[in-house]
Amino acid sequence: MIHARIAGTGGYLPGEAVTNDDLVKRGIDTSDEWIASRTGIRARHFAPPGVTASGLALAAARRAIEAAGCEAGDIDLLIVATSTPDYIFPSTATLVQAGLGIRNGGAAFDVQAVCCGFVYGLAVAEKFIASGSHRRALVIGAEVFSRILDWSDRGTCVLFGDGAGAVVLEASSTPGVRAVALHADGGHHAILCVPGGVADGKVTGDPFLRMDGQAVFKFAVKALGDVAQEVADLAGAPRASIDWLVPHQANIRIIQATARRLGLPMDKVVTTVERHGNTSAASVPLALDCAVRDGRIRAGQRVVIEGVGGGFTWGAALIDF
Ligand code: UT7
Repeated sequence: MIHARIAGTGGYLPGEAVTNDDLVKRGIDTSDEWIASRTGIRARHFAPPGVTASGLALAAARRAIEAAGCEAGDIDLLIVATSTPDYIFPSTATLVQAGLGIRNGGAAFDVQAVCCGFVYGLAVAEKFIASGSHRRALVIGAEVFSRILDWSDRGTCVLFGDGAGAVVLEASSTPGVRAVALHADGGHHAILCVPGGVADGKVTGDPFLRMDGQAVFKFAVKALGDVAQEVADLAGAPRASIDWLVPHQANIRIIQATARRLGLPMDKVVTTVERHGNTSAASVPLALDCAVRDGRIRAGQRVVIEGVGGGFTWGAALIDF
């Protein structure tokens, strides 16, 4: 049987950290006290003008490839999860492929599952590898959410940041990704969306992120708790065998509530939301990369990653490192 294992991780954050006080200085009617106490966020990064999702993705990809000890030319499947692509088309994945210098390469495409996009992308890559059709996948989450924020809406603009995270997933005889669960319920599309479209060469409708924060909060806590338990059950993994939970980084209170539901102490939960804000599809791979690079996640350990996002979409994977 062919398994898929994580061989390397990478992450990239653009520019300097922008603190909550910096947002106040930029004229947003908010405070460090409000943002930190409601969300846990203290800072985030914003891509400078001209820097796009593919640029962030490329930087994270190079670091993941280096960590995996392979060459860009060894990648035969390239998936980018993003809701803020450079163009309507071509896909961000093909731009990253070109940036890596891969010519006549394998499949490259984007997935769109908003903040759960990386989990969806990893799940797709795992299936390709387990089928034997592909051997080495690069899965990236990359976002420039700063470009779709309404800076006059303090209920949303203080929450998000830009960044990218990546993993190289390789075929192996040893189990790595042990279980995956993906879900969606389009009935909740209106509580978190960018309700603009494209027609006649223009964005039609509203091009900014709109959110019913409290509805999203309630949905996220239940979905994240349930889906983490679901992958543990699918893998036959007792809760006590889980070394780390790497959840979507949207709000520290959602993360704490999820950990409580799972009976996991917070010292087993990786959090970056205080430094990164919510980077949507980038949040899980960025947090994973931070914990791998600072030595918390080590070979032999068991990790659950999970995401929830607009759609609604939600999912999790249980991974042995
Ligand atoms: O990837 C998934 C993405 N989204 C999420 O995970 C978000 C989930 N939801 C949340 O995290 C929370 O609902 C928020 C942090 C967005 C909001 O927290 P809340 O406790 O639900 O606050 P609220 O929306 O009920 O607003 C409470 C008050 C309001 O004032 P009044 O009406 O009580 O006078 C808001 O106007 O806080 C006010 N407010 C702010 N004040 C200062 C809203 N945003 C801000 C702000 N600074 N940035």
